[in-house]
Amino acid sequence: MNKVDTSFLHKDQFGQDFLWGVSTAAFQIEGAHDADGKGSSIWDVFTSQKGKIKNGHHALTACDFYNSYQNDIDLINELNIPNFRFSISWSRIMPTGTHPVNQAGIDYYNKIIDSLLASGIEPWITLYHWDLPHDLEVKGGWTNRESVKWFSEYVEVCAQNFGDRVKNWMVINEPSVFTGAGYFLGIHAPGKKGITNYLKAMHHVTLATASGAKTLRKLIPEANIGTTFSCTHIEPFSQTPKDIEAAKRVDTLLNRTFIEPILGLGYPQADLPVLKKLNNYILEDDLNNLAFDFDFIGLQCYTREVVKSSLLIPYIGAELISAEKRNVIATDMGWEVYPPALYHVLKKFNSYNIKKIIITENGAAFPDVLQNGKVYDIKRTHYIQDHLEQILKAKKEGYNVDGYFVWSLTDNFEWAEGYNARFGLIHVDFDTQQRTIKHSGLWFRDFLS
Ligand code: NOJ
Repeated sequence: MNKVDTSFLHKDQFGQDFLWGVSTAAFQIEGAHDADGKGSSIWDVFTSQKGKIKNGHHALTACDFYNSYQNDIDLINELNIPNFRFSISWSRIMPTGTHPVNQAGIDYYNKIIDSLLASGIEPWITLYHWDLPHDLEVKGGWTNRESVKWFSEYVEVCAQNFGDRVKNWMVINEPSVFTGAGYFLGIHAPGKKGITNYLKAMHHVTLATASGAKTLRKLIPEANIGTTFSCTHIEPFSQTPKDIEAAKRVDTLLNRTFIEPILGLGYPQADLPVLKKLNNYILEDDLNNLAFDFDFIGLQCYTREVVKSSLLIPYIGAELISAEKRNVIATDMGWEVYPPALYHVLKKFNSYNIKKIIITENGAAFPDVLQNGKVYDIKRTHYIQDHLEQILKAKKEGYNVDGYFVWSLTDNFEWAEGYNARFGLIHVDFDTQQRTIKHSGLWFRDFLS
């Protein structure tokens, strides 16, 4: 393949220790939904229900990573990517969510870890990337306080089985998104709605983040432990006091609510009054048990949001003005392409006391055209390059940022959006499972060489 021009950006500009990687998640790539003793997850159930996923797509096979992992690991190697982030499917290793353990599931992840290490690729495990075992959902899922114990039991099994070889761990992925979409809006699994479900899930997930991290620390003292948060740059639609206040509330909800208790700052109830309702579920000593001294925080930023005050939207009194309404360039997710968001987010999160910040996801869904065996996804290539420039800008100004992971290795199952939103550096033909490295993948390969 021809070399791709990388002359204007050099990986050396980011420093020798800067971490480069690519991110994935079990449910979005593995398929093999019931193979070798795997139990059902809430996403297996949700995708089987009519009308939940665009075009009736499901993830029974997804990218078939369960069977084709070796081929995909070879591709990561070919792309010169030194760090691979993947998640463990809880119900693959604990079919009912708690003991007993399914040895076949453990064997599967051992094969992945060993293969990565044999290729010189560092494994980064996400423990929870949204696929709660269905049997636990039957008991209330994250709305049940017992979920904190179930999660710790699962973390213990992962640490005991993989901790001898895996150094890098992420406890929970994007709690704000999966509790908001899955327990308040009902548009993601498990499809629950309402403020009560949401706030209970919020508190239990936050407790589980800290207790899961403590379990890891106890069982793998030398581990590099982090957890990931979605974040976004917020701007008011106008400079009226109403819009400015609305933007502050949305910023509190999307950027502060989940991280601040983890950092020992408590829930930001003063800036978002509805969070006071959390006090119904906070038990004595909980506030002390929410904090953990993470080695790193993973930030995942894709866009900015523009916010307008609105009396019609309950609890938050604000609405997001979509990219479409603002007539700005957007991705297939409808998210505005706005690279400076990453710079602003880095600046903002640098004001907290965080040891290391890693961008654990960034990337874009654009339509790909496969022609003569090639995919010229120039928009994605530019998206990544433009975001890397924003990281450089932040670094030059002295802000802390220690790594960048692209979302995602291959096109995959984009939750309620199904397969139409393609985020991969590698194109997947979902009929044949054929992989084709896109222009963006070739660019990243040459950049990293
Ligand atoms: C966030 C999630 O962690 C991931 O699962 C998702 O596919 C990407 N962002 C893109 O939406």
